[in-house]
Formats: sequence, structure tokens, C-alpha cells
Amino acid sequence: MNILGLETSCDETAAAVVTDGRQVLSSVVSSQFDIHERFGGVVPELASREHLRAIVPVVEQALAQANVPIHAVAVTQGPGLIGSLLVGITFAKAYALAKKVPLIAVNHLEGHIHAVLLEHPETELPALALIVSGGHTHFYRCEPNFRYELLSRTRDDAAGEAYDKVGKLLGYKYPGGPTLDLLAPYGNPRAVKFTRSKMSGNSLDLSFSGIKTAVLRLTEARNMTAEIATRRALREPTLADYLATTPKATLDLIASFQYTVIDELLSRVRIFAEDLDLTNVIVSGGVACNVGLRAAARRLPYNIAFPTPQLSTDNAAMIAAAAYPRFLAGHLAALDLRPKANFSLTMA
Ligand code: KG4
Ligand code: ZN
Repeated sequence: MNILGLETSCDETAAAVVTDGRQVLSSVVSSQFDIHERFGGVVPELASREHLRAIVPVVEQALAQANVPIHAVAVTQGPGLIGSLLVGITFAKAYALAKKVPLIAVNHLEGHIHAVLLEHPETELPALALIVSGGHTHFYRCEPNFRYELLSRTRDDAAGEAYDKVGKLLGYKYPGGPTLDLLAPYGNPRAVKFTRSKMSGNSLDLSFSGIKTAVLRLTEARNMTAEIATRRALREPTLADYLATTPKATLDLIASFQYTVIDELLSRVRIFAEDLDLTNVIVSGGVACNVGLRAAARRLPYNIAFPTPQLSTDNAAMIAAAAYPRFLAGHLAALDLRPKANFSLTMA
């Protein structure tokens, strides 16, 4: 059973062909990175325009690489940017109609979970899932038959968003996450103690806006304007350029920021795994690429599965993989399918 998967929920136009939810025959991702970079974040109007431009060539490439008959088409229904979701959904409907194949709607977060199950089919449910990206920082308990319970989430910024905002205010190029991860090992993670947010209501919810503001205050208190401007002026900076323009005190600040974010995430992994007696843990989403997070997670006494970096960030192979069990269970979408910008996984 070959499923063509489409993903256009944010700033990546992606298409992939996956057999039986397991074998990736092709996975093409066209990133809009260059378009949004100068704005320091995703601009929704530009994103939909770029999806329109990219969708046909991306799908053609995925189909050509796979070179197999397609039995169904799967598409991300949400959550995401409404205009971006519409491009993928409209294309998927047209494809389903023209090729007379079933249409399957996929929740983007279920896709991230399947990015792990695709490569680690031995992962058994129930499992604890942490989806941590530029748009999400959510903990779920995943059970068989598509049942998900939301355990906690960020109240404000997602972890990836915090990385990107801190990266931007320290003068690093967008997205800041990968750069801060590369620089963190050069600093002392215990140098700066960030105050942890106290949560009303669900005390295991997270907040990352406080730590971002704390970094901003430190840049002011330490008078870092000149060093930040030096980094901003760099053209095509390499890691060596960044190391040459980042003083030790700033490396310490970055290491401490990374340490705090990882600790906020993994302390909850520990609590949920113990309280709910879950030994299988899935970590997915762009921030799952973080080397520090992976290393710290591996030291925990659970079966922790991460996707390879290509499947950690947004892609369509995870959408085609998530669609397969839905198809087997008879969950087909009608041709009047609409995007859901706030599609919750617990309703999926
Ligand atoms: O999953 P993704 O591609 O898109 C969203 O759905 O958001 O995740 C992108 C996010 C960005 O915020 C990026 O900075 C972050 O993932 N990211 C990282 C790393 N690699 C990507 N954050 C921290 N460390 C990394 N190594
Ligand atoms: Zn995502």
C-alpha cells in the first residue's frame, strides 16, 4: 500500500511516498527558510504563496523518485497556518479526485509521533510523547486506537520559538535553535541561574517567555550591543565566525539557556514516566535535533526514541506513515475536507 503524503502546515512544502507506513520510498522537503529568514520568523502570507509555487514540483519529484503506483493520498489537516494548510488540502483533494484514490486527513502532531514509529516500530504503546518544535511543546500519553491524552503544554512560547527568539536577540541568524545548540558545549551550563516559572493550574505546564525576557535583560545589563551588532553584520557566518565573535560570558549564557530548556523538558519526562508508569518515550519535532537534549535524554532509564534529524523537522513521510493505520481503520476523509488551524490531537 503506497501512500502519497503532503505536508504544508507551516513553512515547508513536503511530499513523500511511504509503503505500508514503514518504508520511505521518497521524501522531498522544500524549505522556505531563505524567504522568512530576513523577517526573523515565518510570515503567513508569504508562506502560502511559496507553497503554491512549490507544491507541484515537490510532488512530481516525490512521485518520480518513488516510481510506484499510488493507492491513497494523505494530507495534513492541521494544526497550522490556515492559508498554508489550504494549499496542501486543495492539492490532495484534486489528486484524490483525478486519480480516484482515497483521501486521508492527518493531524500534524500525530505525524510527528509517526516520524518516530516509522523508524522505531518496536516502540510499544502506551507511550509518553514529547512534541517539541517551533510551534509546539506538548506532552501526550499515547494509547492504541488513536487515543491521546494531553498531559501538559507550554502556556506561551514553544521551546523552538524560545531558541529562535534568544538566537535573534543575541545576534545569530534565524533559526537560532541549531546555532545555539552548536555553541552551547563551549560554555558553562551552570553559569547563569534562570528563575523557573511557577504555574497556576496544571503545575506541569511549561513557560518559555520568562527565560527569553531574562536573556534580554542580561543583554541590557551587560551592555552587549556592540558584540551583538558584530555578529549581525557577519555574512554567511560559520561556526568558527560565531566562536570568534562570541565572548566566554555569552557562551556561558547560551549554555545556561540550553541547560535550563533541556531540564524543563526532561524533568517532566521523568515525572510523567514515573507517575503514569510509562517506559516508552517518543521525542519528536525540530527541537528533537538538539544534541544536548538527545544526550541528556539517553541518560534517563527509559526506552527513549528520537527520529533521525531529517524526520525530526517537518516532512511528509511522517504524514504518509500516520495515514496508514488511519486507512486500515477506515478513517477516510470526504472531498469537502477543511483545514483546522487549531486541530487538537485529542480530537483527532
Ligand atoms: O518541527 P520544525 O521543523 O517546525 C515546526 O513545526 O516548528 O521545528 C523547527 C524548530 C525551530 O524553532 C528550530 O530553531 C528548532 O526547531 N530546532 C532546534 C534545533 N534544530 C532545530 N532547536 C534547538 N536545537 C536544535 N539543534
Ligand atoms: Zn512540526
